[in-house]
Amino acid sequence: MKKQTIKFVLNENFIQTDVNPSLPLLDFIRKGKHLTGTKEVCKEGDCGACTVLLGELVDGKIKYKTITSCIYPVGNCQGKHVVTIEGINKHELLLQQQIFADENASQCGFCTPGFIMSFTFYLLNNTKYSHDEAINAIAGNICRCTGYHSIIRAVDKVIAELKDVNEQNHISYLIEKNVLPEMFLDIESRLKEIKLDQVEANEKSSIFIGGGSDLFIQRPDDLLERNVTFLDQKHLNYIVENNNRIELGGGTTFEEFKQSAILQKIIPTLERDIDLIASLPIRNSATIGGNLTNASPIGDLTIILLALNSTITLSDGISERELPLSEYYLDYKKLNKNPNEFIKAVWFDVPQNNFHFSFEKVSKRTYLDIASVNSSMLIEIDDNKIKKIFILAGGVAPVPKLLNETNQFLIGKEISLATIDSSLSFAQNEISPISDVRGTAEYKKFLLNQLIKAHFLKLFPELINEKEIV
Ligand code: FES
Ligand code: FES
Repeated sequence: MKKQTIKFVLNENFIQTDVNPSLPLLDFIRKGKHLTGTKEVCKEGDCGACTVLLGELVDGKIKYKTITSCIYPVGNCQGKHVVTIEGINKHELLLQQQIFADENASQCGFCTPGFIMSFTFYLLNNTKYSHDEAINAIAGNICRCTGYHSIIRAVDKVIAELKDVNEQNHISYLIEKNVLPEMFLDIESRLKEIKLDQVEANEKSSIFIGGGSDLFIQRPDDLLERNVTFLDQKHLNYIVENNNRIELGGGTTFEEFKQSAILQKIIPTLERDIDLIASLPIRNSATIGGNLTNASPIGDLTIILLALNSTITLSDGISERELPLSEYYLDYKKLNKNPNEFIKAVWFDVPQNNFHFSFEKVSKRTYLDIASVNSSMLIEIDDNKIKKIFILAGGVAPVPKLLNETNQFLIGKEISLATIDSSLSFAQNEISPISDVRGTAEYKKFLLNQLIKAHFLKLFPELINEKEIV
């Protein structure tokens, strides 16, 4: 096993450790450092009980986010600031802790550290507070006994106390308001002082971790035995637009994807679409490269990037090759990839002319659930006629499915309900769903028809009469 020294700040303490970098951060915190305020419940990133803050230097400034530490490797903490509930605790309760107590927003208390960390992140990361955004920031934290009304009431009361937010000196303001401890004042300079070992640029590996949000659910023990390369250390999180081409680094997180002004120009509903997919701590760690390589036939981001006609750049640390994303998937979880390759970047040409994009999914819960069927569509039109179209469907075949025949049928046709109805038989012939926990094959076939209609209805309400849709 390759040795790696990991250096970071945990609350106020500088940590330098040779611990296995694939160890989940939660185990390091609880078992290694005996900081047991961070709770372990699902160990799958689903409940939020293990939420911690993670601060890192971005362009010389510290930026915090929340992560679920149960599925986040210590190796990804290199050079960062990890904050647990003990790190923000003071002798007296913080404002948000006191109001949670006053409003009876905690009973057994098992979920409470997670809620407090997520909410503290929200207060730290924003200078304008709103009810909806605060609730979005604590989404993904599950409480089994209190009921959410008292938690929401507490959140609203804290926000009401922080009306005179100081945007210039935000951290000092929050310290003064008893929202943060003083520790936060000098963390930025402490992170700048950490001397990190050089990452070998040409290193070859056969297992790569991006955010780890899926790998640490599927095979945590296996990861402890392997020589893992942590892509986070290669700083592959970027989104740039050059000469009508948009390129995303393979380490770009879902949240960075969602917040990108470049991508929002292409997908106006991007923020709503990505909010459907995962909670904030998961969006903060899950990466594009990881999602594409996970090869789930129902991967939401995969379906979106396929509709954009993306190409991936695969690297083995020495050489690189490009591959259309649609050729990356050979069969169920079988990839057109050598074991020592990882996705370094994804790029696509900016759609030209009169184009529209739509993403739809159906799942048992509206938010934060795996889809039964999902679909995306990129369409270019000229005088109400379809010039180009890419409809993708997930959950209806062993791989994310580009509906080639359906798309071919639609090209050149005028947009109308009759056209859409005629295209559905092509779509049905292209798919082969199976019955599983997410629905029967028949149900999934039905869903795909409805999602295709939903794309057109959403994008062209003036051409489609909703009342005529069955
Ligand atoms: Fe549930 Fe980590 S223990 S999200
Ligand atoms: Fe018991 Fe939330 S207070 S789970």
